[in-house]
Amino acid sequence: MTRPKLHFGAFLYTPGNHSAGWRHPDAVPQTDMHFPWYVEMARTAERGKLDTIFLQDTAAVGGSGALDGTSPYRPSQGRQVHLEPVSLIAALAAVTTRIGLISTATTTYNEPYNLARRFATIDHISGGRAGWNLVTSQVEDEAGNFGFDRHVDHANRYERASEFYDVVAGLWDSWEDDAFLHDKQSGLYYDVDKLHFLRHRGAHFSVRGPLNVSRTPQGRPVVAQAGSFDVGRELAARTADLVFTAQTVIGDGRAFRTDLRSRAERHGRAPEDIKILPGLMPITGRTDAEAQDKFEQLQELIDDRLAMTSLARLTGDLDIYQYDPNGPLPPLPPSNAAKARQALIMELAREKNLTIRQIARYLGTSQGHRVVHGSARSIADTMEEWLLAGAADGFNLLFPFFPGPLNDFVDLVVPELQRRGIFRTEYEGRTLRENLGVPVPPNRYAASRQGIRS
Ligand SMILES: Cc1cc2nc3c(=O)[nH]c(=O)nc-3n(C[C@H](O)[C@H](O)[C@H](O)COP(=O)(O)O)c2cc1C
Repeated sequence: MTRPKLHFGAFLYTPGNHSAGWRHPDAVPQTDMHFPWYVEMARTAERGKLDTIFLQDTAAVGGSGALDGTSPYRPSQGRQVHLEPVSLIAALAAVTTRIGLISTATTTYNEPYNLARRFATIDHISGGRAGWNLVTSQVEDEAGNFGFDRHVDHANRYERASEFYDVVAGLWDSWEDDAFLHDKQSGLYYDVDKLHFLRHRGAHFSVRGPLNVSRTPQGRPVVAQAGSFDVGRELAARTADLVFTAQTVIGDGRAFRTDLRSRAERHGRAPEDIKILPGLMPITGRTDAEAQDKFEQLQELIDDRLAMTSLARLTGDLDIYQYDPNGPLPPLPPSNAAKARQALIMELAREKNLTIRQIARYLGTSQGHRVVHGSARSIADTMEEWLLAGAADGFNLLFPFFPGPLNDFVDLVVPELQRRGIFRTEYEGRTLRENLGVPVPPNRYAASRQGIRS
């Protein structure tokens, strides 16, 4: 039997996923806006044969607390600005050749025709390496930039997201693979039987189609998803090729992956067609002791009150600052932002008996994702354990700052994983689908003519 292999995303959340990472002596805070840094980081990830870069997004100035100068914490937070990621992956497509390029785009504050067109275009530009991370907008601040007083309700967001996906996927099938004849003799540019109108009419969208971009090199760009509350899981099981998640304990990882794979089967899909990548922040040293020092150096930079801003985001309408930071986490009102994440944090606090301050520091380190510090061997050990236990198909790699820790992973951990035979030494294919090992969905119209289920 062939050994399963890991898949990796490099989560380029510049200037770093650690709340104080940008202040580290080796950090380059300008990685948030400076294009040449993204080129270098994408090429480093490609040198390490990682499957894809993965770009988060929020359509609002980042951070939490008021922007009007009354929040004492806001001016110390990183990631206030970043390059718009769909435009960014288009540019990176031109300076890389093999690595996947996944960008987040929200279904809550976008129109499906525009997004279908942009991602299809980037799939063409990149020769089949584009991916769309479909989100429903975690951060409530986005609402005010799109004509709303309040964030759209969680259930409504998912209803819209589900229909949004159907429209986008439908538009991506507008043209069959061989629709364009370019026949100079007959004068036929395309075969009229291979062009299809979507004529979608639903609760949220009315879209005639067809898309004015031909079928893409991957058939469709890869679809990634990150919501993990019940409706989020259901949408992912039906539609996603890849799921970015946040379990920190191997048992929870296995339960989540098993649940998603069986939900996918209920939607008529093969379980291996959906890849589950929990987030993981590796802090790599030449020895375990060196990695421990690196970790402690980072933790010393955390300001407790500032770290509480990440927690404040998950506490909904409750003002967490009025509670004693050395006391337990009070019961939280339901969140309209990220229900699954809120549930994970409450469970962790209860299980480990953590104080508000301890939870805040934990979130400030990696936004609640698993942190592993150690030598290449120790990091490879835990990755191998999760892979073989069926708790992950790989990891979305978070870095405390850029670019050093990404280089460390590629230079130290990747060779160790390759030596163990659990990570590729060469890209398997040219497209992101080929490298991830997920199928090309057949064009629905061609498939129905041939009697294949799409
Ligand atoms: C690991 C992870 C990453 C996410 N990344 C983004 C993002 O980049 N932008 C965004 O607007 N929402 C992001 N989300 C939010 C989800 O799209 C969703 O709106 C939110 O998690 C609420 O759904 P849930 O309750 O199902 O988790 C992310 C969620 C998770 C769990």
